[in-house]
Amino acid sequence: MCGIVGYIGEKKSTDVLVDGLSKLEYRGYDSAGVAVYNNECLDVRKKKGRLKILANSLEEQPLDGTIGIGHTRWATHGAPSDENAHPHATASGEIAVVHNGIIENYMKLKDYLGTKGYTFASQTDTEVIAHLVDYYYEGDLYNAVQEAMKRLEGSYALAVISKNHPDELIAVRKDSPLILGIGEGENFIASDIPAILAYTRNVYLLEDDEVARVRKDGIDIYDKYGIPVMREIFKVDWDVEAAEKGGYKHFMIKEIHEEPKALRDTLSPRITEENEVNLKDLEISNRRIKNIDRIVIVACGTAYHAGLIAKYAFEEKLRIPVEIDIASEYRYRNPIVNESDLYIIISQSGETADTLAAMRMAKKEGAKILAITNVVGSTVSREADYVMYTWAGPEIAVASTKAYTTQILCLYLIMLEFGKVRGSIKEDEYAALVKELKQLPAKAEEIITEDNIKHIMKSAHKHCTVADTYFLGRNLDYAVALEGSLKLKEISYIHSEAFAAGELKHGPIALIEDNTLVITIATQSKLFEKTVSNIKEVKARGAFVLAIATEHANMIKDLTDEAIFVPQTLDIFMPILSVIPTQLFAYYCSVERGIDVDKPRNLAKSVTVE
Ligand code: F6R
Repeated sequence: MCGIVGYIGEKKSTDVLVDGLSKLEYRGYDSAGVAVYNNECLDVRKKKGRLKILANSLEEQPLDGTIGIGHTRWATHGAPSDENAHPHATASGEIAVVHNGIIENYMKLKDYLGTKGYTFASQTDTEVIAHLVDYYYEGDLYNAVQEAMKRLEGSYALAVISKNHPDELIAVRKDSPLILGIGEGENFIASDIPAILAYTRNVYLLEDDEVARVRKDGIDIYDKYGIPVMREIFKVDWDVEAAEKGGYKHFMIKEIHEEPKALRDTLSPRITEENEVNLKDLEISNRRIKNIDRIVIVACGTAYHAGLIAKYAFEEKLRIPVEIDIASEYRYRNPIVNESDLYIIISQSGETADTLAAMRMAKKEGAKILAITNVVGSTVSREADYVMYTWAGPEIAVASTKAYTTQILCLYLIMLEFGKVRGSIKEDEYAALVKELKQLPAKAEEIITEDNIKHIMKSAHKHCTVADTYFLGRNLDYAVALEGSLKLKEISYIHSEAFAAGELKHGPIALIEDNTLVITIATQSKLFEKTVSNIKEVKARGAFVLAIATEHANMIKDLTDEAIFVPQTLDIFMPILSVIPTQLFAYYCSVERGIDVDKPRNLAKSVTVE
């Protein structure tokens, strides 16, 4: 998952590949590599660490050749290392592949190819693709790739090179972006436009399930049936900065748009064809799961809010006591740790100083640690006993969005697995929960529509000058209210607080006066009436109430001043959906106020110091 560049032309290919990859460095990566055709051979060079390490190596020992593929890797399957870096080549060195995305059925394919005599040099899902293409190869690289695609499940953008075909590169796209750059006497492949902007502004945008033969003097695109596709040339008129953001104004809005895909990538490899949750990657035994007496969740900021959702959900469905603490508080109290505790440590970066300190304290006392993180090879992932990755891809905006929703998704998967193993979630309920969980990426997509965005933009335009905002909610809606409030204050600098709606009359209601903006999350059906009472209380004191509710709660329109509707799902899964409008609202308030959305003042993406 990260950057792909491919080149075929007259130039020294490693110069173009390294230059193109350097334009993708902003996305974050942990290793880089190239495969180049030279003298009837494929030369592969790949290095863990910064692109500079690869570039230095290529300077010291150059690889000649005018056709090649390159990659910067953001680890998913297998730690960052030279072996796991792309390109991945067959043992004979005939075919090499670079890949962005996730191959969901790679274990199955690996087993199958193993029976055909293939051996594997890495822990990646990508290596399977090189061998699969080789397996189908009968003299035509394009045909072999088409055949291999029929067996691949998941998301992938690929660039494939073969020593037997020095006149072409093959490019493939399925649920992961890939473009083809059109030059004169040279052509390019790239996962992102900035990689090739120095060479051309004319591109073909490859669509899902399309395969392209990229030659020096032309590009042919085919659909999955091998039928040629006519594609208009897309002229890029963005500057480099806009191109890095995929045409979006900021990384944050790009990352909000990526949420459905991030959810899909995190979820689908972990649900089997039989609709069972498969947490093989967690490597936790059933015995351990059955012996857990207490779960303790520790995290900071947005990750803490994800943990709060798990407290409600786990206690309801698992009937295990769950404690949750902010890492900076946890580390300076004198917590009671039991060996039968399971600690869940949540951290997008995996490097947050307070979270690391809390994790180490619990581990020292003998507790087992399960980490949820977005960064393979991060400190948290290396020190934990069990690791579950959110496959959200790099998150660049300081304000966390897609990492948060995928963290919640991982927690739901843990809930389902633990519930099944411990017998607290019965078969019928389990099936219903899995079925609904699978719908969430599509439902998230339904929220990020043009109409909804227009509505939220208008609302942000109207409210962005308020001095204070209060978020209200009960139960899981309260956890979302906390996150919505944090998002708003961190990127719009509007003072905001979140209250458990039932606490209103114990103090906060004194703050409500004419036109105070109150954002109420009202998705929990069993508490709907109670939330309605709270809405009435603040309305009676002059508040302007903006509700976030499900499509089914139509009556909310009459009770409030404004409503944003999200699709219906089970109450327990609502937070993944209801938080998205709060992210969009915060984003557009920030834009309206002219704030540097992606880098709000005083904040850093990764808080590695206390
Ligand atoms: C807010 C935000 C922060 C982080 C917090 C923990 O949008 O991003 O609150 O959630 O600093 O960071 P990680 O998850 O990297 O440990």
